Amino acid sequence: MNLVVVAGSGNPSLADSVAERLGTRVCRSVLNRFPDTELHAEIEESVRGCDVYVVQPTGPPVDRHLMELLFLADACRRAGASRLTAVVPYFGYARQDRRANGREAVGGRLIADLLVVAGFERIVALDLHTVSLEGFFSIPLEHLSAVSLFANAIGELVTDKGVIVAPDLGAVKIAERYGELLRLPIAIAHKIRLSGEEVRVRGIVGEVGGRAPIIVDDMISTGGTIEAAAAAVIAAGCIPEITVVASHALLVGPAIRRLSALPLKRIMVTDSLPTPEHGSLTLQVVSVAPMLAETVSRLNVGESMTELLSHR
Ligand code: R5P
Repeated sequence: MNLVVVAGSGNPSLADSVAERLGTRVCRSVLNRFPDTELHAEIEESVRGCDVYVVQPTGPPVDRHLMELLFLADACRRAGASRLTAVVPYFGYARQDRRANGREAVGGRLIADLLVVAGFERIVALDLHTVSLEGFFSIPLEHLSAVSLFANAIGELVTDKGVIVAPDLGAVKIAERYGELLRLPIAIAHKIRLSGEEVRVRGIVGEVGGRAPIIVDDMISTGGTIEAAAAAVIAAGCIPEITVVASHALLVGPAIRRLSALPLKRIMVTDSLPTPEHGSLTLQVVSVAPMLAETVSRLNVGESMTELLSHR
């Protein structure tokens, strides 16, 4: 089936790169706002009978990118697309996977329903905050991971004096996978969240003394988690040369300031989101475009996805 790549404003350069690797270009579309701020979406080329992939991470501003994704799906469906897949390298609202305090919305579930209502028949996501999100969808979800890309990129740079650090309990699975791939022990920070921006680490489980920490997480938002984990491992006697590896660089609010103040050796992220201005902070960016292009190519022809999928 004829393959078409459509993109919103979530990460146009990633969409271009995916399309280019597929030997095509991003389909022309218009996304603009009426004077009252309502969104208008229009596909400017025929997609009738096509296998359409809408590449749109839903990073900040999350609601704007989410609405674009939904509107582009509706426009493609009404324009006769035969098959519609959302390629969402960063999935906003994934952290809202349960009610923590009561009388709260479960945002992740609601967004999953909206994507299905908009017409998507399949979702491609990368390093979701929690794998249980798959259960929110009544349609297939292809869950990719950047862990092996990072492990390859970092492999020659780490020594047997390294230690993988999970900055909270939620990151333990991802830390175990890095530990296996890099053959390093893991340590876990006992984190409690005080507010959207503030966290505290109560202690470290595991041996970090005299070791070089590699802090791994699915995302860096305000940088509070990394800052607190770094302070805790330093207090526990690690070598103050910290590597940070995270799939999604949201880097909002105080993130750049917080990270810049840490004794970082390197910080590695993917291009799932556009990399914001990061001043003196040097980010090493591992592109997920080849993996996304390979995924789209296999889905288009119905080839096995086994080696590409995350099963953590
Ligand atoms: C939370 O469990 C996530 O895995 C991240 O650790 C967290 O969302 C990062 O947020 P921040 O950078 O604001 O601490």
